[in-house]
Amino acid sequence: MALSDINSVLFRRVCSRFATGITILTVLDESGTPHGLTVNSFTSVSCEPPLVLVCVDHRCSILPCFRRAAHYGINMLGEEQEALSVRFAKRSSNSFHDLAWEKSPCGAPLLTDALAALECRTTRILDAGDHAILIAEVTRARYREGQPLVYFGSSYRRLS
Ligand SMILES: Cc1cc2nc3c(=O)[nH]c(=O)nc-3n(C[C@H](O)[C@H](O)[C@H](O)COP(=O)(O)O)c2cc1C
Repeated sequence: MALSDINSVLFRRVCSRFATGITILTVLDESGTPHGLTVNSFTSVSCEPPLVLVCVDHRCSILPCFRRAAHYGINMLGEEQEALSVRFAKRSSNSFHDLAWEKSPCGAPLLTDALAALECRTTRILDAGDHAILIAEVTRARYREGQPLVYFGSSYRRLS
């Protein structure tokens, strides 16, 4: 296979060859209203202490909420939750309408039915290119049994 000079189309196509899960990043604004966005850039960073990162586009309308918040949530989706991924990838002021969620002890909104949910404390935000890298310490977490929602080749997939 020939190696080509990189450009934005090739970069996106190459990155789409990397299968990921899907998470919803969730945060409360200053008035206590929950907001969220679909993110597949989640990575675990460190075990001791437990650190994770996500990358958020500088153009994302709720990035300022994450810059301000001391805590936020990362919710990993199960295979039956594709509709939630689609919902939180759209700009909307009421993405949480009809959705079961609760506030964690430190104030992160967590989706009740997520495959796994992490309460995260912001430790560092680095700007890199057109995204912000949000690094956080996981302070609380939970998970349930189930299969993950998978994203590969710009499509939603299931393991089975
Ligand atoms: C499968 C999938 C993965 C995504 N991953 C990311 C991501 O890692 N970082 C990001 O900033 N946006 C990501 N997005 C796009 C955001 O979800 C979307 O741009 C955002 O919800 C738009 O919010 P806004 O219009 O309020 O700015 C992803 C979208 C989809 C469908």
